[in-house]
Amino acid sequence: MKNERKVLRNKSILIGVTGGVAAYKAVDLIRRLREEGSSVTVIMTEAAKNFITPLSLEVASQNRVYSDLFSDPLAHIMLPANADIMVIAPATANIIGKFARGIADNLLSTSLLSFRGKLIIAPAMNWRMYENPIFQENLRYLLSRGVIQVGPEKGALACGEEGMGRMSGVSEIVESIKSSITKKDLVKEKVIVTAGPTREYFDPVRFISNRSSGRMGYAIASAALRRGAQVTLISGHSSLNPTKGVNFIPVETAADMLDAVNKELNLSTVLIMSAAVSDFMPAEKHKNKIEKSGELLLRLNKTPDILSEIGKKKNRPFIIGFAAETGGRIERAEKKLKEKNMDMIIFNDVTEAGSGFDVDTNRVVIIDKEKKIELPLLSKNSVADAILERLVEIRA
Ligand code: CTP
Repeated sequence: MKNERKVLRNKSILIGVTGGVAAYKAVDLIRRLREEGSSVTVIMTEAAKNFITPLSLEVASQNRVYSDLFSDPLAHIMLPANADIMVIAPATANIIGKFARGIADNLLSTSLLSFRGKLIIAPAMNWRMYENPIFQENLRYLLSRGVIQVGPEKGALACGEEGMGRMSGVSEIVESIKSSITKKDLVKEKVIVTAGPTREYFDPVRFISNRSSGRMGYAIASAALRRGAQVTLISGHSSLNPTKGVNFIPVETAADMLDAVNKELNLSTVLIMSAAVSDFMPAEKHKNKIEKSGELLLRLNKTPDILSEIGKKKNRPFIIGFAAETGGRIERAEKKLKEKNMDMIIFNDVTEAGSGFDVDTNRVVIIDKEKKIELPLLSKNSVADAILERLVEIRA
């Protein structure tokens, strides 16, 4: 889509693949980076060839794969010089040890020494190796030199043991690459984002809810984190995974969500209410499952209006709300901005194709006290960045 804010578009990424079982994940990583608009070149070590073929990486990157130092005598200078970002995934204890000690004995280790840009490493090894103090010292040294580490995770390892050493998932690596080149313009902010639907129960197993997937809120939480904010994500039920580094608080009902927001409010500077809070809740919640006999009448009461409650507070944070309207009624959104004492409202027409619930895109208008910014149809990730860009502008 035109106007997409893709951080990695037109970036040149040099990926080093070393000899670990996780080498197979490099194929997916390369594919994801290309989808983000980057061009990818791969250097693989000889050991990596025990785990994955050069052809797989060539097909994934649509580029030549390099591995020999002497068949292209200038590759260790030219490849790093042409790269914006370098990523080692998986990074074995061997390559980390070599780089920490300045050893240059193959194409990848020599390239690491000649590279001048952002370097991200995704360690992967057995937990005993990972915990070894010699390895840890090497790792600490690299981090002190500005190298960015992503993972590893705790989990089942290739050797059959459980422990710390499994390479991070591809999404997390991509997120860390994006973060490494994102301007940290929200470092001063502590942001609460709410997301997803609430569930209002009328017996222990039944509830009323709505179609919200949580995508918009999760995208905002990731984008704010990437820009350096401290982020709390308070979410109703969603199948999405919160980005690592986000303080995640799952909730169910509107009342739970209000509670959680209130608890997190202290020192928070921004509240972004992207949750599709149910407007109504059953007047009573039956203790036991309701038996089906004849018809069932449900009486509904209004849920607490979280935005209004927070809007009334004296020391309130900067408040951004959403207005999911039907039929393009932008005036209603403008009215809500004033009535609920918000600073910004994001209007979208949920009946429009490509907008609203359960889709990856949204067409919104950002309305604040000074301006109205009409955006074209964009991915929810881009919408998230556009909202935060305006937030940065206003708070500058
Ligand atoms: N919201 C809230 N608490 C509720 C309901 C909604 O904080 N109980 C928030 C939503 O997260 C959203 C904003 O209020 O940011 C607007 O929600 P919306 O349902 O569109 O507006 P309402 O004010 O409920 O008005 P209406 O349903 O009449 O459109």
